[in-house]
Amino acid sequence: MEENKSTEIINKYDLIILGYWVENSKANSLAIDFLKTVRNKNIALYGTAGTDINHPYIKSVITKTESIIDDSNKLLGHFICQGEIAEEVVANFEILVNAQPENKMLAGLLNIFKQQLPLSKGHPDKLDIQKAKEYFDKLFNSLK
Ligand SMILES: Cc1cc2nc3c(=O)[nH]c(=O)nc-3n(C[C@H](O)[C@H](O)[C@H](O)COP(=O)(O)O)c2cc1C
Repeated sequence: MEENKSTEIINKYDLIILGYWVENSKANSLAIDFLKTVRNKNIALYGTAGTDINHPYIKSVITKTESIIDDSNKLLGHFICQGEIAEEVVANFEILVNAQPENKMLAGLLNIFKQQLPLSKGHPDKLDIQKAKEYFDKLFNSLK
């Protein structure tokens, strides 16, 4: 969406809830581009990652994504759960890793993806969705 148009729309609201999927270790670029424009709002984030949220790698995803938020905003919450990794994503990463064998970060990501591919099937599942609901119910109740 054109930046002026999205700013015009969000100016009507105090709370912005932004959903994203994890792309290259942070929120997807469209979500990041939007997040960069937000000022003086309450913000809550929810995201899906191909990786199990208990994997240590997820902490860096959360930190990188939250670091985009301008200080004029207040981050109220950030929910993240596992989504499904498509087999093509792993195949594409494999091509990238082969093209850049010196890039240890990419190789590390590929290892994580390969390990997480079977575990990610069916996510977000019923439990993930229930947890998301409980998380946001609690957050909304805290605003009353
Ligand atoms: C181009 C691309 C890059 C991705 N990069 C990452 C990543 O760096 N880390 C990760 O955990 N998942 C990554 N994923 C997996 C997506 O985050 C996952 O497929 C998505 O969260 C699934 O959400 P859904 O099941 O709700 O559609 C990537 C997926 C694509 C297509």
